[in-house]
Amino acid sequence: MAPDRTGIAAALEAIGDALGADILLQDPDSLARYGVDRSSGWQASPCAVARPRSTAEVQTIVAIARRYRLAVVPSGGRTGLCGGAVAQSGELVLSLERMNRLLSMDASERSVTVEAGMITANLQALASAQGWFYPVDFASSGSSQIGGNIATNAGGIRVIRYGMTRSQITGLVVVDGRGEVLELNRGLKKNNTGPDFRHLFIGSEGVLGVITEATVQLLPAPAASRVMLFSLPAFGGILKLLRAFSDSIEINAFEFFSHNALEKVLARLGGAAPLAAAPFYALLEFESRQEADESRVLEIFEKALAAGDVYDAVLAGSDSQARALWRLRESISETLSPWKPWKNDISVRVSRMEAFIEKAGALIDEACGGLETVWYGHLGDGNIHLNILKPEELDPSLFKERCAVAGSAVAGLLQEFGGSVSAEHGIGLIKRDYLRYTRSAAEISALRGLKAVFDPDGIMNPGKLLPPEG
Ligand code: MLT
Ligand code: ZN
Repeated sequence: MAPDRTGIAAALEAIGDALGADILLQDPDSLARYGVDRSSGWQASPCAVARPRSTAEVQTIVAIARRYRLAVVPSGGRTGLCGGAVAQSGELVLSLERMNRLLSMDASERSVTVEAGMITANLQALASAQGWFYPVDFASSGSSQIGGNIATNAGGIRVIRYGMTRSQITGLVVVDGRGEVLELNRGLKKNNTGPDFRHLFIGSEGVLGVITEATVQLLPAPAASRVMLFSLPAFGGILKLLRAFSDSIEINAFEFFSHNALEKVLARLGGAAPLAAAPFYALLEFESRQEADESRVLEIFEKALAAGDVYDAVLAGSDSQARALWRLRESISETLSPWKPWKNDISVRVSRMEAFIEKAGALIDEACGGLETVWYGHLGDGNIHLNILKPEELDPSLFKERCAVAGSAVAGLLQEFGGSVSAEHGIGLIKRDYLRYTRSAAEISALRGLKAVFDPDGIMNPGKLLPPEG
């Protein structure tokens, strides 16, 4: 049972006594700021924000929280889009922002151990200062933290080549809901001693414990790359392009977006359209070690043009042009946020994508006909972002109702297609009622069992990820 006001006050006092009063923030501004993520519609209401400086301090906080049954919401850069870091019921937010140091570097293995609060872009910069590369990247990397990336197994724009955050993590230190510190895999390349708990904590959205440190495998600096943007008459053409490129070049990223996404981005950022208007655009980043790589890409483009699958294309001639093309894709999410969109980050296997999109489009028209839909995403990963925009004049609850109808229909279709209701943003609060569509009842019950083992009192990020029982 959650503590009453007196219990909360006693827990906070015990934390202050153990770690010093400056460990806690309780002013209204901080409570409002730390109590939400980037998804909309929440009323932040944490009891306090704790900002520990070490794993030992995290352990002390979790142990006291457990004693008083005080719920804890682990908090990184709060750039999530599904309510996973929201605190709206008197929880204690546990921010990792003060734990942002590089702890060690192993040049022989090209790896680093960092605290969980390190900003993702700082990890990227740290890697590149050594001539190495941290490949996980996305628009919010300037404010997201590595611990949050791990807790949500963040994906981003280069998954097709390098995998998700999980692929780069060789060790974790966590404080679980029992208040135990677990050192998971310790950076080992080979460790064949039964189930690897590191992978349980990656993507666990804070419901098992708090990630405090991570050992990250870095890569050699990548070879030069080129960026090309294509305009296309139909979605099917994008998949044909992807198939052709997959067989002949090393793809770093393969993204797509619909025309209304580009229109809105250009209206916000200014600047001219890079290509004449078309229903869809595909953005390819490919490794270009030699001229032959570029020739192969141009050959495929010529063939697609002749077949009528592509209208036109532009190949960036400089780094700044490449960045400008990327900006068109990476600015979509922020550009759409004033419309308070109903967001989706679904996936199916690429081979089933065309049939899926056709059926999903029809279902959405049925449920949300008349509402504007914006399509974009990481097509090379089978990951589509479908956003439905709320018209200014439409009542928010009516909008929600219509989107819920579309949501159930799309989730049912994902179940039929063996897809996933969340490819990269995670489940949090927003998607937990849809989890059952693409994870079986047996899986969800095993997940509840895992939670009971690592968090027997249910204090870690309650209400997130798991659908309510019954
Ligand atoms: C993206 O791919 O732009 C991000 O996942 C954010 C979003 O879907 O809005
Ligand atoms: Zn995305």
